Amino acid sequence: MKRNLGPVNALYPSLTTLVGAVVDGRANFLAVAHVGIMNHGQPQYLSFGLNKAHHTNQGIIEHREFSVCIPGEDMVVQTDYVGLVSGKNTDKSQVFELFGGELAHAPLIKGCPVCMECRLSQVLDFKTHDVFIGEIAATHAEESVLRADGSIDIARVRPLLFDMASVRYWSLGAEVAPCWSVGKQLKAARQGKA
Ligand SMILES: Cc1cc2nc3c(=O)[nH]c(=O)nc-3n(C[C@H](O)[C@H](O)[C@H](O)COP(=O)(O)O)c2cc1C
Repeated sequence: MKRNLGPVNALYPSLTTLVGAVVDGRANFLAVAHVGIMNHGQPQYLSFGLNKAHHTNQGIIEHREFSVCIPGEDMVVQTDYVGLVSGKNTDKSQVFELFGGELAHAPLIKGCPVCMECRLSQVLDFKTHDVFIGEIAATHAEESVLRADGSIDIARVRPLLFDMASVRYWSLGAEVAPCWSVGKQLKAARQGKA
């Protein structure tokens, strides 16, 4: 029997990311574990809500550019750190080694196996949060996490999965089944019945 927990958000685990922007001429990063994906065609858009009190918001709004990097398990300490302290009173520009991409104000993290550069498309003023929607301009991935066909192998990225209920980072488990494929057996069985 299920227990009604009230309006608890149970949509976890979610992917832990590092969002970066340039604020007052300096790169600033924060941990963001609530990123939405919109669109599967081109262009691709990402969305996330940042509390208006955060320092990073200023840089995204000013330059209309930001980065979204995916840290691996080896970066859990730095990831958590930039999610604990604010650029308002702590310089976080030296926490990561950076590399340059196509955009001038989307700082990219060398240690992250995957990094995306984004152009701000829209900002929604939503209660306590700024909801940012950005178009992905370029994606950089380490050769070591790529399959022969150039696609990203999530098992090699070893992302940090965030769970609000346990307030812990988790690792990725094993593959279960091929997507848009394993359900075909039930489709065929149900069509057979019809
Ligand atoms: C795992 C994790 C996930 C987080 N996800 C979000 C998020 O989705 N939205 C948000 O506004 N803050 C989130 N935070 C909090 C910010 O990362 C944190 O307040 C940060 O210190 C703000 O930095 P800034 O003021 O330099 O921008 C998260 C923190 C952690 C540790």
